[in-house]
Amino acid sequence: MAERKRDQRIWADRILAQAQRLPPFPDVVNKLMPLLRELASVKQIEEIIKYEPVIAARVLAISRSPYYARLRRVESLRDAIVVLGQKQLIQVVMTACASQYFRGSMEGYELREGELWEHAVGVALMAEILGERLRRQNVLTLYTAGLLHDIGKTVLHFYVKEEFERIITEVKHNKKRFLDAEREVLGIDHEQLGGLIAKKWNFPDSVISGIRFHHEPRRAPDRYRDIANILYVANRMVSSIGIGCGIDGFLNPNRDEVFNDLGITSRMVEEFLATFGDTFLEVKQFILN
Ligand SMILES: [Fe+2]
Ligand SMILES: [Fe+2]
Repeated sequence: MAERKRDQRIWADRILAQAQRLPPFPDVVNKLMPLLRELASVKQIEEIIKYEPVIAARVLAISRSPYYARLRRVESLRDAIVVLGQKQLIQVVMTACASQYFRGSMEGYELREGELWEHAVGVALMAEILGERLRRQNVLTLYTAGLLHDIGKTVLHFYVKEEFERIITEVKHNKKRFLDAEREVLGIDHEQLGGLIAKKWNFPDSVISGIRFHHEPRRAPDRYRDIANILYVANRMVSSIGIGCGIDGFLNPNRDEVFNDLGITSRMVEEFLATFGDTFLEVKQFILN
């Protein structure tokens, strides 16, 4: 017992130290928000994004997907700013900022290169679809939290791989959920770690709580229960169609009461999956750069 506690502490210290070394989240969205509120000119908005060339290139690439460039071709950053509405512009910039953290394979979770990123964008889009259909006011928060809900895995995957045998033993022999087995062996799970990373990046409490409770929304503080519920459902649906599901997706049990809490019927699930399928196909090939 004492030995297990000691191992947990050693792993958790190493994991937290590595999370500290993640590059800061680009603050281009924070710079953009006040400009959009003031209805600044396209040129002013362009100046902010252009200043970050890597992000600007990704914004351009994503904006070219048929999902966003419905009305006209997007040839330049300026076109992208004109074509995208305010909300979409923020979403695309946020997506461009987040992608750098999801590079490489996540072997501990049995995910190949790009699979966790596809999953992240998928859950963000599904959370947006749910938010709109359920008439929530905080669709941008839902999208952002969806995008980052598994950010903890981008650090934890390496340690899950190192201790894979012990984690799987916990799941199989001790009937633990994968998430609980992570915490049991490594001293921290990907929800807790994701919440800490989002806090370090100064995201609002709503986003932090959404990430922190996406597998167990009933434990979320009351005021953030709804966002955690929506993320839970979005994550389940996207995983159920095999997008970035990973090993833990198969090993975490379903909690259908969360669907009930949100008033989501099986018919609505079909409708969401159909809407999602069209959207995701349009976006998919443009996000993998
Ligand atoms: Fe997760
Ligand atoms: Fe997930």
